[in-house]
Amino acid sequence: MSIVDQTRQDDVLVLTINNPPVNAFSPGVPEGLKAGLDAAAADDTVRAVVIIGGGRTFVAGADIRTFNLPREQSPDLRGTIQKLDGFAKPTVAAIHGTALGGGLELAMGCTYRVAVKDAQVGLPEVKLGVLPGAGGTQRLPRVVGAQKALEMMLSGNPIRATEAHQLGLIDRIVDGDLLAGAVEFAREMADARPLPRISDRPVEGASPEVFAAAREGIKKSHRGQLSPSLIIDLAEMAATVPFQQGWDAEAGKFMEAKDSPQSRGLRHIFFAERESARIPGITKDTPTTEIKSAGIIGAGTMGGGIAMNFLNAGIPVTIVETAQDALDRGLAVIRRNYENTAKKGRMTMDDVETRMGLLTPTVDMTALKDADIIIEAVYENMDVKKDIFTKLDAIAKPGAILASNTSTLDVNEIASVTTRPESVIGLHFFSPANVMKLLEIVRADKTSDSVLATSMALAKKIRKVGVVVGVCDGFVGNRMVHRYGDEARKIVEEGARPEDVDASMNALGLPMGPFQMSDMAGLDIGYAIRQHQAKVAGKLKPDGWLDRIVERGRKGQKTQAGIYDYDETRRPKPNAEMQQLIEDYRAEKGITPREITPEESTKRLAYSLVNEGAKILEEGIAQRAGDIDVIYIYGYGFPAYRGGPMQYASEQGLSSVVADLEKYGQTPAPLLKRLADEGKTFADYDAERGRG
Ligand code: CAA
Repeated sequence: MSIVDQTRQDDVLVLTINNPPVNAFSPGVPEGLKAGLDAAAADDTVRAVVIIGGGRTFVAGADIRTFNLPREQSPDLRGTIQKLDGFAKPTVAAIHGTALGGGLELAMGCTYRVAVKDAQVGLPEVKLGVLPGAGGTQRLPRVVGAQKALEMMLSGNPIRATEAHQLGLIDRIVDGDLLAGAVEFAREMADARPLPRISDRPVEGASPEVFAAAREGIKKSHRGQLSPSLIIDLAEMAATVPFQQGWDAEAGKFMEAKDSPQSRGLRHIFFAERESARIPGITKDTPTTEIKSAGIIGAGTMGGGIAMNFLNAGIPVTIVETAQDALDRGLAVIRRNYENTAKKGRMTMDDVETRMGLLTPTVDMTALKDADIIIEAVYENMDVKKDIFTKLDAIAKPGAILASNTSTLDVNEIASVTTRPESVIGLHFFSPANVMKLLEIVRADKTSDSVLATSMALAKKIRKVGVVVGVCDGFVGNRMVHRYGDEARKIVEEGARPEDVDASMNALGLPMGPFQMSDMAGLDIGYAIRQHQAKVAGKLKPDGWLDRIVERGRKGQKTQAGIYDYDETRRPKPNAEMQQLIEDYRAEKGITPREITPEESTKRLAYSLVNEGAKILEEGIAQRAGDIDVIYIYGYGFPAYRGGPMQYASEQGLSSVVADLEKYGQTPAPLLKRLADEGKTFADYDAERGRG
């Protein structure tokens, strides 16, 4: 088997691409396809050509790993498509699995496209910070019209073959054997002349308003991003200039997007997310158990949100509360959430009932005796958690996973009260738990490999991105965010206004700055943590400006008053009294306020995350810098196009990060300093350890 096999079916030449796992357009594929086309051109007995993918899919796109290669070494997708476009005999793309990006572009370079009905096609390049660079921006609008093409290219989401068929993007849906159907179709079309070419067609529905609306739309949906506006410009060119001119322009804009830090960031996250699923010591052979039922303790916001993940995946849940009224309230919230989704048309009322039917509410903890996994989701108090785990140890069946949703506490200590610490693990969901994709999987000292592997598989099943972390105060995400919160408060203490600090992070692309985030999470939580930490360390009761705000009963959004004021729109409004409180605080402490630029604020905050991240890496709490980036993107809204905090720092240059940390009075972590001295990046660090 070669990378592109040539086989004859009488008068049709079949070119089969064999480049597992997803038939990406890697080196060798263009050469093989071009050789096949040359062979077909040279042989009068060949009347048509079929291109098909071997294995599980058609071509899933350009090979993203080759994006870092110099241009002359990149696989020649554009040349291959040009050759197809000018080819004198009919060519048929036979699609199963996914035809994505360069895969769909290749198919659109063919004369015809056939597909099995469960195939999917799309141009997802925007998700990698690039644009369809092999004719997609010029051909897709010519097939499906300007509006639909913009929708597909700007969302990056694929469509089903059946929809593509209705749109004319697929010429025939093949029932049964794809190859046989494709060959039959090729024979039917073998004598069609002139050959229809997408590049000859006009663009339907290309009014200036369509492009203006798209430009307006991306201000919100893709704020701060480069490639969406390039996509719109090119789609407009498809409608307004000859094909060749649009095709040439696309090549230049593709390179511009590909070489941008935004695309490097998004590509980094694409691979980091897949890499984070790999855990040293855990293999395909590590035994896992199938989770067929779940128990959840606590029907509050977290418990209810966690339950919804299982219900959505069709896994029955028993949810336990201490009192009936709390249980009823929790259930009502879950139902209301589902009904709201149904009102938006994203679920039917039958779906709501099916999910609610999988939920068993109870105030009797012994009802958890048959559950395969039990997740404790009560408030952060070690004594309460220990009490629950002692009871669970007596109730749960042997082999059940006993998980805590703690966001900061020591999972080893929790496990120590059971007779089966190997079954205990931390599963830290992020609020709102039914929405946020991140799941920090906290591996305690005695957690067994099997419990860890089962938890990773479970994360996938309930559509979360699971990242394994070690035990420490706050694990990865919250430990870093605590440091970030400290720095944010310090910046205000020194002279900035909270709204300016938030704006400096909004400018980096975070939907919420540190104070907007703490108002949302509840200021009392951070307050309690600071009080507790001071007590443990034998220090005086903390008395920062923020502590004083909380002591006025302002707990954030939930009391409609925190650092900011809130009305029903939940939009933060600065409060003059709080500003005065801050000024009085500075005066009392003898602090002369100074002007802090947005640039200083952004750097201090972003680099405080990075510095703590570097310590976490050194301590082995996170396995890779890439894992930290995945955690920040899926758990804290760090913009994916920045690649996460560690990748962002690498883009800035680690030596400049070190210099800035020192300039602003933070001590750089030894690992950060070492990498900076050696001129390396965090990706180099991951690669050094074989984890890149
Ligand atoms: N290039 C290189 N490697 C790729 C790849 C690509 N386009 N697509 C997937 N892979 C790799 C993954 O990294 C993964 O590798 P490991 O096993 O080593 O981790 C492996 O293929 C399997 O991928 P998934 O784990 O994601 O498998 P899945 O079955 O869950 O999903 C998929 C399959 C839907 C194709 C998904 O991988 C995907 O969405 N891939 C990206 C598709 C894409 O973005 N294509 C456009 C590329 S850009 C382009 O084409 C530019 C252009 O216009 C010229």
